[in-house]
Amino acid sequence: MTKSNPSEIKPSPKQKEIIESKGDTIVISNPGTGKTFTLSRKVINLLENGVEPEDILCLTYTEKAKKEMFDAIFNAKRKFPDSDVMKINIHTFHSYALNYLLDNGLISGDIIGNNILRFSILESFENNKALNYSKNYIISDFMPKVENSLRYIKNFGITPDKIEIKKSEKLLEKSHDEKRSSFTTKEMKSLLTYIVAAYKHYEDSKTDTVDYTDMLLTFIDKFHGEKFPYVLVDEMQDMNEIEAQIVEMVSENLFLVGDVKQAIFGFQGGSTKNFEKFQKTCKPMVLATNRRSTQQILDYSKNYFLGKTEQRAKFEEQLENFDSPSIPPGPIPKIFSTAAHLSKTRRIIEENKGKTIGVITRTNRQIIEISKHLDINNVPYTSTSSKAVTKQARDEIKNFIKGLISNRIEDKISAAFTIFSPYTLKEAFALSDAHKKKDAQKVAEINSWKINLTREDLNQLFKETIYPLCVSKGSEWFSTAVSVEQQIEEYLTFETPTFEALFDFIDIGEESYFERNKEEKTTLSTVHKAKGRQFDIVIYIPNIRSDSNRWIDEITSAILGAKGIDPEDEVAEESLRIDFVSFTRAKQKLFVIVDD
Ligand SMILES: Nc1ncnc2c1ncn2[C@@H]1O[C@H](COP(=O)(O)OP(=O)(O)OP(=O)(O)O)[C@@H](O)[C@H]1O
Ligand SMILES: [Mg+2]
Repeated sequence: MTKSNPSEIKPSPKQKEIIESKGDTIVISNPGTGKTFTLSRKVINLLENGVEPEDILCLTYTEKAKKEMFDAIFNAKRKFPDSDVMKINIHTFHSYALNYLLDNGLISGDIIGNNILRFSILESFENNKALNYSKNYIISDFMPKVENSLRYIKNFGITPDKIEIKKSEKLLEKSHDEKRSSFTTKEMKSLLTYIVAAYKHYEDSKTDTVDYTDMLLTFIDKFHGEKFPYVLVDEMQDMNEIEAQIVEMVSENLFLVGDVKQAIFGFQGGSTKNFEKFQKTCKPMVLATNRRSTQQILDYSKNYFLGKTEQRAKFEEQLENFDSPSIPPGPIPKIFSTAAHLSKTRRIIEENKGKTIGVITRTNRQIIEISKHLDINNVPYTSTSSKAVTKQARDEIKNFIKGLISNRIEDKISAAFTIFSPYTLKEAFALSDAHKKKDAQKVAEINSWKINLTREDLNQLFKETIYPLCVSKGSEWFSTAVSVEQQIEEYLTFETPTFEALFDFIDIGEESYFERNKEEKTTLSTVHKAKGRQFDIVIYIPNIRSDSNRWIDEITSAILGAKGIDPEDEVAEESLRIDFVSFTRAKQKLFVIVDD
């Protein structure tokens, strides 16, 4: 097969028509038909026609997609300078809203991550003596489910005060089937109460901080800037209601691309209803020819989808010409049914040396399992989750050391929140609170928490505190600690080391550290992170555990149902769409490994 350089690909006549179309446009098309490609060419076309780069906003969902969008524009043949590409606004929803709010001084306090929600849930369940389960079980199994549920509910703008408990209970009484559940109806109702209490506890505990949804809601409330003449959104099927509202608010001209069969963010409130909405106001256009996968992979994906969907007629129409005439034929996808999925995966990787391989799973837990197996067998790979883990580990180590060396009380409090700190999360919160309320006496305690910027003090800190904990958290944490310590050693050889310069030095080291970790041919990724991407070979391992989510889904549905929202509509067939996204990442060969 000839490898085409993406910068030299010529748009097809249909793509050209879309690139040159004027006014609000929505491109709804099957996987691999060149939606992302067309979007990047559209940006180039705008610039070549005199649109200022500052007037263009591209919105994506992940940092990875953001970088790929930038690369696609940067590497394409174009008639304008690099400096113009730098000026285009390419953002995730998150980074765009945050930058706007910060630049305009509209946000006070910090943006908080997921840990605080998790912690609030745990604390609230403990305070209420909600469950007899062990703490470990609550943390590993219970908490993530409640967390997802609360995030989901909040995405509809439903805050604790708006939840209608009595109505929700009535719905649970109707929906719950004791014969099919390990919980009685009475237990389900008390779980509902505990979950709402945890939600309230969370909202109350973050007095001065905001989470991601708060931030987007604040944006909607306070945005008063000028609209962007051009706003472009890839993978628009994954927008939730709030994000859709933002897109409308900030745009004069809209260009949206997506595929309803690939909507897989329903659990974050991603709503396929947006399609219907935007289709009314935007000119719909379609791309037909797939330019990614062999006909064998397309046929398999299509038949699988049509065989399982409840809306066959609708999708038969969409998938009518799901063809790739210019791609050479390949083998028919292979489905393996085996309990030995680890060694099977490794064998397929070894048999396809030289190809790009995507090992796609449903959960991060599966990725960790597979990466351990590949580590033992010396098979190189890049993993989407290991990068995230490494970044998290670096941040924790940095924040901890910073707090100990620094004289700033804010740095110390932030160190108190790291896993290395001797404070529990609850104590860290109390300190943060005391600081805000200017309770000097209480804060004084943390002031004595101090080391010097010397080799001796730092060595001791690594040896006694950082290494032991990192070892227990796994090889990624450990190797990250080693690399940070090496950087510090290197820095301390400077004549007059200072506190600020040390952290600049570590940050700079971080950049090159991530770059050195080059992409291997094999990538381990969850489906959700593999969106929009493609690999020569795909090994898909669905391994979906049955029904363990049913109780939390039922409670979530009851809470939303009481507000007239039917989540079933949105997440129906989500599992099917997840399979479809995975299959259609493959260019040449597709393997599916299911448990026996
Ligand atoms: N006109 C063209 N000629 C040759 N190759 C093309 C053309 N248009 C797109 N491609 C290539 O086809 C592949 C799929 O394109 P792209 O990723 O843009 O599809 P997509 O519709 O965004 O897919 P998905 O739905 O999975 O996001 C890419 O490798 C792209 O470079
Ligand atoms: Mg795409």
